[in-house]
Amino acid sequence: MHNKNNITDKIFWVGTNDRKTHLFENYWPLPKGVAYNSYIIMDEKVAIVDTVERGTMETYIDNIESVLGDRKADYLIINHMEPDHSGSIRTLVERYPEMKIVGNKKTFPMLERFYGIKNNLLEVKEGDQLDLGLHKLNFYMVPMLHWPETMVTFESNNGILFSGDAFGAFGTLDGGIFDDELDLEYLEEEISRYYSNIVGKYGRPTQNALAKLSGLDLKMICATHGPIWRSHIDDIIAKYDKWSKYQTDEGCVIVYASMYGNTEKMADNIARHLVKKGIKKVRIHDSSKTHPSYIINDIFKYRGVILGSCAYNGDIFPSMETLINELEHMAIKDHVLGVFGSKSWGGGGLKRLNKFAEAIKWETIEATPEALCAPHAEDFDQCEALAEGMANRLKDLYK
Ligand SMILES: Cc1cc2nc3c(=O)[nH]c(=O)nc-3n(C[C@H](O)[C@H](O)[C@H](O)COP(=O)(O)O)c2cc1C
Ligand SMILES: [Fe+2]
Ligand SMILES: [Fe+2]
Repeated sequence: MHNKNNITDKIFWVGTNDRKTHLFENYWPLPKGVAYNSYIIMDEKVAIVDTVERGTMETYIDNIESVLGDRKADYLIINHMEPDHSGSIRTLVERYPEMKIVGNKKTFPMLERFYGIKNNLLEVKEGDQLDLGLHKLNFYMVPMLHWPETMVTFESNNGILFSGDAFGAFGTLDGGIFDDELDLEYLEEEISRYYSNIVGKYGRPTQNALAKLSGLDLKMICATHGPIWRSHIDDIIAKYDKWSKYQTDEGCVIVYASMYGNTEKMADNIARHLVKKGIKKVRIHDSSKTHPSYIINDIFKYRGVILGSCAYNGDIFPSMETLINELEHMAIKDHVLGVFGSKSWGGGGLKRLNKFAEAIKWETIEATPEALCAPHAEDFDQCEALAEGMANRLKDLYK
């Protein structure tokens, strides 16, 4: 028989696991899959909270039916309109034509433009309450976390926050739905990658949301992706607080773009000197091999960032260009930056990295080695100077 996933005796998880999709938002790798969480509250009135991506809709409908049986849904709460959660709305509306759709004034124009739905709407605003019987739903707006229409729903009798993408994680829910049922060590990178990749641009809105929600007595956080938080609520809130303040640890991420290994040699040399000067957490990535998802995630962890590129047709190497475009676009704050490069004639890689340094406005290290063809002794001296400058600055910041 079909498993029902109880959260309380009246609230159920009816979400789905997606182990097929390779890339979330068709960009971010999903080595451990992703879950789309949706919930049903059974009361005098029945409410469904958010839906799932349409690729997993068949399973979703089965899950809903196993909980609802012959009953109908009275309300559908839409916390967030991104199609990974709104993708099954139209199907639910067809199944439960009487159902009222609950959203705010920024939800409904999107609902009409995406899905042509404009009837049976119930508009709520900050602080409004919807009474289901025993359960009371309270709505709070959390704009730009990470879309403008985003809100969260707090069930005040049980202290359950339906938080949308906030506190979400990549990774499927394998055999359990709660944080204390799942292997959080196995999911650790998927949790931080979800924040850094999807929410990372919105540090300020995240801080605003945390401040707004800090007054609520939370017993459980039901996000739209990843584990349901009930045993590690303080941990996940502390992580979100740290990440959205751009607080990082002592350590350095080195990323290089290299075709024939000359720039790579410089990266290895810099890393060696960093470690010799006492920096333990050194992470080297090849920008052509490692997806920006993982590099950005490391940059959210460590204060130091060192980027190196060979010159390529008068400019920077393409995979490094992609990375710096993304870093600039995300406007990540508070790092110490070092840059280096290599060229055989007019250059281009280091030139572009210096422009990036100006645009991102991070503190920079003075030495900027650039090898001509292959690195020689004087280039390695400059690499050492760069490493030394970085190590000293980090030691100073974390003493
Ligand atoms: C396709 C290609 C295009 C290049 N374009 C430039 C260039 O525009 N300016 C320059 O100074 N060097 C250019 N180079 C030379 C490389 O930047 C130089 O050989 C560098 O040392 C390569 O570093 P790597 O061994 O880390 O790949 C180019 C090399 C290749 C293979
Ligand atoms: Fe989203
Ligand atoms: Fe989402």
